[in-house]
Amino acid sequence: MGFRTIIEPFRIHSVEPLVMTTPEQRRAALADAHHNLFALHSADVLIDLLTDSGTGAMSRDQWAGVQRGDESYAGSPSWFRFLEAVRDLFPFEHVIPTHQGRAAESILFTAVGGDGRIVPNNTHFDTTRANVEYSGATAVDLVIPEGRDSQSLHPFKGNMDLEALDALLTEQRADVVPLVMVTITNNSGGGQPVSLANLHGVRELCDRHGVPLFLDACRFAENAWFIREREEGQGDRDVVDIVREMASLADGMTMSAKKDPLGNIGGWLAMNDDDLAEQCRTLEILTEGFPTYGGLSGRDLEAVAQGLRESVQHDYLRYRIRSTAYLGEALAGAGIPVVQPIGGHAVYLDAGALLDHIPPTDYPGQALAVALYETGGIRGCEIGSVMFGLQPDGTERPAAMELVRLAIPRRTYTQSHIDYVIEVCTQVAERAGELRGYRITSPPRPLRHFTAQFEAVA
Ligand SMILES: Cc1ncc(COP(=O)(O)O)c(C=O)c1O
Repeated sequence: MGFRTIIEPFRIHSVEPLVMTTPEQRRAALADAHHNLFALHSADVLIDLLTDSGTGAMSRDQWAGVQRGDESYAGSPSWFRFLEAVRDLFPFEHVIPTHQGRAAESILFTAVGGDGRIVPNNTHFDTTRANVEYSGATAVDLVIPEGRDSQSLHPFKGNMDLEALDALLTEQRADVVPLVMVTITNNSGGGQPVSLANLHGVRELCDRHGVPLFLDACRFAENAWFIREREEGQGDRDVVDIVREMASLADGMTMSAKKDPLGNIGGWLAMNDDDLAEQCRTLEILTEGFPTYGGLSGRDLEAVAQGLRESVQHDYLRYRIRSTAYLGEALAGAGIPVVQPIGGHAVYLDAGALLDHIPPTDYPGQALAVALYETGGIRGCEIGSVMFGLQPDGTERPAAMELVRLAIPRRTYTQSHIDYVIEVCTQVAERAGELRGYRITSPPRPLRHFTAQFEAVA
């Protein structure tokens, strides 16, 4: 329209109150939570940027779908509406609904993982890595080197390192690698997109080595929007078209419908291979439920079906990507180191650079995340050595980057909420030198960031 301001493409129909707390109340809440932000009561959080997963606002039409939800155990019309919406974008032969993304991962890697197997990915998300490793297999991250450099301006920092993938597939016997996975967008690497050209390159390697390709497609719509904006020759295409092309390059996918599909819960596993689908459906019945609901109510299936249609609308995606960039650009402008370019669903603060007086073993990301909560009631998420430092053999290794992710729930916060976040972050950054690190006082366990207890280093 020729205006600089990109407004929220919706108006508010129902509101949720936010509760203001004092710094003293927040310090007490932190002490009760052993300084683990996952252990806070969310009512004590003012702006909750812990995750964009399942925390978005549903639309009027999604709520209308909830009313239409049919709770028949088998073959409900809600299931068929869900199936049609999924297949419209991802036309895989078999669609196996699950209650969320990690259930799809668990089923998939129970079927194809196991001792001695290796699963390459651009960067495994934490639950994906945990499910691969729980099966006995090894998870290998092969993102391009720029993807590990927080300041590189490469437009597709989520890309797979094709040479490294080729070398791995050449080195290993065919049956060692059950599948290659590509995560779009690359959440753990800063919400960075993967280009269509790179996906074609991965496909060629998979064909040459006879290995299937699966997408971890949680943020497929944001990835497609970046392709439209940044990749040569893609600027005039409809996002739906780009999504279908991405799907056509894969043999299957996992999905958390709590992300781009705009659901509060849900997911699926999809594939073309009949035998694998048979095996996965058996596991699904064991763990999730009958294959036409898979751990979801008819209401949930309807909300996701409608959310999928809304997720690929250009006005929505333009606002979504622009409003995340608005936060990132303001923080960078205030001199706060952030992962560049700004990702799709989140802004990643580079705690390693901001708190360079705190060594990775004292978790600078945790220190920064705690300070943001204490100062302004903002909850972010450490994505660094707390999340990735513990190795399967029990040793500790610093993560590639020490980040704090400020994930933006979809359609939930307005620009004034984000302006407040900018102010709080700026204030914390001004006294970065005073912040101290943390140590973990609880015993090690997988996915420790959810449950670990911390104390400040003296
Ligand atoms: C890239 C990616 N894969 C998988 C998952 C797991 O999905 P869920 O939280 O629905 O189990 C997530 C969740 O954040 C994710 O970001």
